[in-house]
Amino acid sequence: MEKQQFFQVKLEGVGRCLPKKVITNDDLVKTLDTSDEWISSRTGIRERRVVSGNETSVGLAVGAAEDALGFAGIPAGDIDLIITATSMPDNLYPSTSCEVQGILKASNAAAFDIAAACSGFVYGLSVAHSYITNGTYKKILLIGVDVHSRFLNWADRSTCILFGDGAGAVVLSRSEDGRSDILSIDLRSDGTKAGSLKIPLYGKNCPFVEPNSPKEQYVSMDGSEILKFTLVKVPDSIKYAVGLAGFSLDEIDYFILHQANSRIISAIGTRLNIPPHKLVMTLDKYGNTSAASIPIALVEMLEQSKLQQGSTLALCGFGAGLTWGTAIVKWRAKDCRKAHG
Ligand code: ACO
Repeated sequence: MEKQQFFQVKLEGVGRCLPKKVITNDDLVKTLDTSDEWISSRTGIRERRVVSGNETSVGLAVGAAEDALGFAGIPAGDIDLIITATSMPDNLYPSTSCEVQGILKASNAAAFDIAAACSGFVYGLSVAHSYITNGTYKKILLIGVDVHSRFLNWADRSTCILFGDGAGAVVLSRSEDGRSDILSIDLRSDGTKAGSLKIPLYGKNCPFVEPNSPKEQYVSMDGSEILKFTLVKVPDSIKYAVGLAGFSLDEIDYFILHQANSRIISAIGTRLNIPPHKLVMTLDKYGNTSAASIPIALVEMLEQSKLQQGSTLALCGFGAGLTWGTAIVKWRAKDCRKAHG
């Protein structure tokens, strides 16, 4: 292991995996006192994907990882670390990353998960960046995956309309040309607001100590508190990270904000004077996919031919914790599958 050296980081590939089942706003109207108009005007969401049958969080993570590895043209055996950002794993242990490592036969990789809710992808990017720059690892697979549909009260119209399931992944490598694709990262948290967005995990005390009664494990959210936090804190983080990278806001080509809801994204855009065409929105199709929303949006932009070689991107996550953070990134990755026809 090489230590005490500093290396640059290259973004090699991106991928995603979405569940098959689509739930539209009109589907929700069948069981909830709501409407497509209410949901789409307040959130921008028209439909979302949810896991069904034998689809799992690990399965989505593997799908996104294979897509990203294919894009990068890197075999799983070359990966030396797998990090998964997730708050809704299939199991408390083993970690999602370990299961992915086994399925991909990434036999040279260490593996662990991190939990930073909807900021998980940006937090994970920071961890991966640190390991590569300090020489500990050369090729890292970073996955963001969440399956909110299993932790929602589907009778609560104020929360169940917001979320969708999905996974996204990127491959990061030690750069060989001295250039870095990750230009700055800013991470923040405020645990005093931990109760404003929560999925409690109810273990049970030993029956010798007290009798047990089952409790439901659902998302609870103070929507207006979350709205206030994002509008105050997130613009500061974006400005700080953009400055740290040596840019001004108008030099950023696209702002890929966590897809929480379109009103939040537009309001942050207004506060920072960002033209609407630079604000990426995928909410209409996928809803809020938590730790997966940023890499899913990256793939969407590629499919729409919006990402150009050399595009400068602000990736910004925010969510439960509270946590938030921004990474400024240069997009130079080339899809090996296209290069090889
Ligand atoms: N359909 C119809 N009516 C609804 C629905 C619904 N799905 N949900 C709530 N309402 C009702 C409420 O019951 C309330 O009725 P009342 O006045 O009779 O009590 C009324 O609509 C207004 O409720 P508000 O909560 O004030 O609605 P608001 O306009 O603020 O929108 C929302 C709610 C969209 C959740 C908003 O607070 C918001 O955008 N918050 C940010 C939270 C967020 O985006 N969370 C995502 C997860 S966190 C993250 O990823 C960072």
